Amino acid sequence: MDDIESLLKESRNFKPKADFSRKAVWNPKTVAEMRKLGEKSPERFWAKMAKENISWFQPWKKTLEWKPPFAKWFVGGKLNVAYNCIDRHLEGENSWRRNKAAILWEGEPGDSRVLTYGDLHREVCKFANVLKSQGVKTGDRVAIYMPMIPELAIAMLACARIGAPHSIVFGGFSADSLRDRINDVGAKLLVTADGGFRRGKPLALKATADKALTGTPGVEKVIVVARTGETIEMQKGRDFWWHDLMADASALCPPAKLDSEHPLYILYTSGTTGKPKGILHTTGGYLVHVATTAKVIFDLQENDTYWCTADIGWVTGHSYVIYGMLANGATTLMYEGTPNTPAEDRFWSIIEKYRVTIFYTAPTAIRTFIRWGEAHVKKHDLSSLRLLGSVGEPINPEAWIWYHRVIGQERCPIVDTWWQTETGGIIISPLPGATATKPGSATHPFPGIQTAIYTEEGQEVKPPNGGLLVLKNPWPGMLRGIWGDKERYKSTYWGKFKNVYLAGDGAHKDKNGYFWIMGRVDDVMNISGHRIGTMEVESAIVAEPHVAEAAVVGRPDEITGTAIVAFVTPKQGVAPDDALREKILKQVVRGIGALARPAEIRFTDALPKTRSGKIMRRLLRDIACHKEIVSDTTTLEDYSVLAKLRNEE
Ligand code: WT7
Repeated sequence: MDDIESLLKESRNFKPKADFSRKAVWNPKTVAEMRKLGEKSPERFWAKMAKENISWFQPWKKTLEWKPPFAKWFVGGKLNVAYNCIDRHLEGENSWRRNKAAILWEGEPGDSRVLTYGDLHREVCKFANVLKSQGVKTGDRVAIYMPMIPELAIAMLACARIGAPHSIVFGGFSADSLRDRINDVGAKLLVTADGGFRRGKPLALKATADKALTGTPGVEKVIVVARTGETIEMQKGRDFWWHDLMADASALCPPAKLDSEHPLYILYTSGTTGKPKGILHTTGGYLVHVATTAKVIFDLQENDTYWCTADIGWVTGHSYVIYGMLANGATTLMYEGTPNTPAEDRFWSIIEKYRVTIFYTAPTAIRTFIRWGEAHVKKHDLSSLRLLGSVGEPINPEAWIWYHRVIGQERCPIVDTWWQTETGGIIISPLPGATATKPGSATHPFPGIQTAIYTEEGQEVKPPNGGLLVLKNPWPGMLRGIWGDKERYKSTYWGKFKNVYLAGDGAHKDKNGYFWIMGRVDDVMNISGHRIGTMEVESAIVAEPHVAEAAVVGRPDEITGTAIVAFVTPKQGVAPDDALREKILKQVVRGIGALARPAEIRFTDALPKTRSGKIMRRLLRDIACHKEIVSDTTTLEDYSVLAKLRNEE
């Protein structure tokens, strides 16, 4: 099988500014030392990080026990995640952090709350006691279905405190999705809320949860936060108000001394294909991974105000809104709502209001901002920002440059971080004080991690050709399995190459050793015998200044094997006409070559996306092939998009 061809050319290069490098958590000299140590001995590197960044009740005996594909990290060590995220900031030389903001919270209607580390300690201890009083024991699973409110953070940390693995289900999921996840994980208690605010209106959650709960025999108790004040039904004996239970709860709750491999959480990921998988993460290795990467990649300084826009219902929220940030004693901001409520400048107004210094968001959001226009950004003072991050999909170079110029005002380094629900924490990313960045490249693996690009046969691909992205050695934040499905864990990730983790993404490495992610391999098209990633064609289309967003898919073609169909959203106010079609075709031919010229361009207002913002190309594939939608649509965010796309045929 041929390598995946890489046709995208990008030669811009951004060196770290001297001033930033000098003050960075890891300056270039440290980065060089850490890379060296990580290469020589990943275990010694991670053991060093585990000692420096995490507090242990009992030290580990063995850093890694690797019986492929099963890993145990920090074997014999005992610790508690909530203790590391809260208690230790109230003790000894850090005790001044008691009154430092842990969580800055902004509700969509404009209300706000601040929880200091002292507040968080009290609330988490109380809720941990509530859980215990409701019969939750170490090892029992707790499902959480909540809006982005502080109680969500409190609930997950309370679970961690008593060693009850949580399984958070994103508040946008349907009753069916919630029911399936609750049953698969075997949760005995559900924490939810009456609702949350979205797009200016209360969005009901309890009513949806009630539907799910008609088919979840294992759930004994439900705890409900009053957020919106809407009328809801409370089932006697099963449902309890959060505030009632908290009123009598004691604020004294010692953290459980848990084994390093004790399950911390299960998070379901569907990605874009197949039945959701319950990804299992454990305690010690996960915390070492996320705390270390949070500190170094986001260059966390004591006085930073950090904002990651992801919902806690996704792994990004688990690792880099809560655990990685609080483990470092940082101030993390949570926002409840949408970026355009009440207006398209909401994010920028939040950055100005709280003087946010580090901002982490997704390319899909950045492209939306581009579409809305710069005027919304210009209304606000963004001079507090000093570092930007991107995650979730490949960032196309034009979006990168816009992010750099308009949001970062050419002052802020950008960390494009590649990772997955399965990897637990960031795997490939620039280190902002040391790495010269290239727009669109996630650059290099984190020290201690070895990534490579393989052919189908398991040979390393020669630069600059593309292939399959793999991880060659175990890393501390790696998934420990798929909940209840050992075989699927083995076959999905470890079945193709011996003792090597298959990420499922296509990638290539350039002659300077930079990694470029080309999207999921399921999205690779074979055009006239050339394997071309959808992402590169999309990047070329989006480089046309009138285009806001694009998704391409292949449809069978007698001549070329596959023909490219492009779904294109023009910028606001731009006419979707033949003139624009011509411009796009020219742009693709100029950017990539005639080989990648779309056979068909369809204009559309919106693209079908998963709730985490990933374009669902398989649905577009169905449409492009003039088929009925045959694939699973349960992870689709907005069903009306599909109807519109079909009508446009
Ligand atoms: C997939 C994982 C990582 C947390 C959020 C998504 C894509 C993620 C990047 C990036 C290119 C990226 C990959 C990966 N992806 N970050 N910086 N550049 N692609 O977690 O839902 O588990 O998705 O997201 O395709 O495999 P997830």
